Amino acid sequence: MRRRHVLTLAAVGAVAAGCRPDDPPPRAESGPAASPAPTLGPGGLAFPQGFAWGASTSAYQVEGAAAEDGRGPSVWDTFSHQAGRTRGGDTGDVAADHYHRVYEDLDLMKDLGLRSYRFSISWSRVLPDGRGALNAKGLDFYHRLVDGLLARGITPVATLFHWDTPQALQDKGGWEQRDCAQWFADYAQQMFYSLGDKVATWLTLNEPKTVVLLGYTTGVHAPGKRDRRAADVAGHHLLLGHGLAVRAFRGTNRKGRIGAALNLSPVYPADNSAAAARQAKIVDGEENRRWLDPVLLGRYPEDWLAAQPAGAPVRAAIRDGDAALIGERSDLLGVQYYNPIHVTAQGGRVVKHPTTQASWLEVYPDGLYDILTRVKRDYGDIPLTVTENGMPTTNDVQDDDRIAFLRDHLAAAHRAIGAGVRLEGFHVWSLLDNFEWAEGYSQRWGLIRVDPQTRDRRRKASAEWYRGVIARNGVQP
Ligand code: FCB
Repeated sequence: MRRRHVLTLAAVGAVAAGCRPDDPPPRAESGPAASPAPTLGPGGLAFPQGFAWGASTSAYQVEGAAAEDGRGPSVWDTFSHQAGRTRGGDTGDVAADHYHRVYEDLDLMKDLGLRSYRFSISWSRVLPDGRGALNAKGLDFYHRLVDGLLARGITPVATLFHWDTPQALQDKGGWEQRDCAQWFADYAQQMFYSLGDKVATWLTLNEPKTVVLLGYTTGVHAPGKRDRRAADVAGHHLLLGHGLAVRAFRGTNRKGRIGAALNLSPVYPADNSAAAARQAKIVDGEENRRWLDPVLLGRYPEDWLAAQPAGAPVRAAIRDGDAALIGERSDLLGVQYYNPIHVTAQGGRVVKHPTTQASWLEVYPDGLYDILTRVKRDYGDIPLTVTENGMPTTNDVQDDDRIAFLRDHLAAAHRAIGAGVRLEGFHVWSLLDNFEWAEGYSQRWGLIRVDPQTRDRRRKASAEWYRGVIARNGVQP
């Protein structure tokens, strides 16, 4: 099954914040980051001042400490512990042990020179049953993390849902239940009140499309369902949760910005035939417009709606007023870009470019340019940030292939900025090697190596390279 992605970004000035008593002072900078600003050589691609150079992670993929300090289980705990669900039976029980190594990781981020760090909040760590009273110890972890970021001058970008639905809510029907949208918005509101004086950039959902495709259609992700009809209903409720969370954010009067993080793929006809163009439009509806239109225009695409079979439960799930609610004004859009899609006249897909260890990841940097400029053309001038882009490699610390990949994608992003796209930042997936869902620890996506046994950290060549990019505020092609 191929996977695809979108992203968003937000550059918000870091808020000066005091360290909590248990936050060790940031280490003195060392190495190239501390020396006078290096400059770009001839042909270098300079990025706008204040560009939010960042990296991304998500809670279940890095935190570990799965049963500590009162955290409740999520669907991913349940799923990864079922036989045959993940490669080698890997789980996120320990993951990158980020929960315990948070200060070490903060120092690594500072050392890279990151301006922005996108992480996700584990819903069941702060609300073990998904609803009700906050778990103070769980919430405290995010205070430590956010305070540590701010003390190091790094802007926190918090994602509220990166696939880890609390198991207690799954037991009540999860996203197939309309109520789940409200449960999500209630949790989001608790986070706005708890962390909103320090976090100014919020992302509601990470890649609802992937949840629909892999979690509910093919079942290779949690919660492991294989039911297309249920999948579409869950997809609508996810979007409704987004809209309700945006509305809740406005209601808190917190300063800051909020939006979704969507994985987008440019869709191209595989040949010049009219049939391929027709099929590509259908696929584009599923892949892109079905998510972008409700979030940014407040309506589902007509052709997508018309294609839903009579009697499909999603038709009943979409009630009057829902689409407008989903379209509550977003302040930004996170774009996650990994791969293009080429559609044949028969509606099949073909791969036209090299792939990576992740077979779905067809490498086509121009696709990033195409999707960014397309969002501007079709949806207006909403600020964009790339919330994810990156690749896995079997090379260990000498990951030159990752450097080439990132360089080429940054060059495409630079061209998009030149074409007038309001791209405010770029977050590499991922800061750390981590638990790559069904692939377990077999795919390593990090700028920083995490030893599979000891969890010791070591900067890869790509981390050193990225540090230079950030220091120069640009890329040397
Ligand atoms: C994205 C996910 C992220 C990671 C990367 C490789 O779809 O959002 O968690 O798995 O792919």
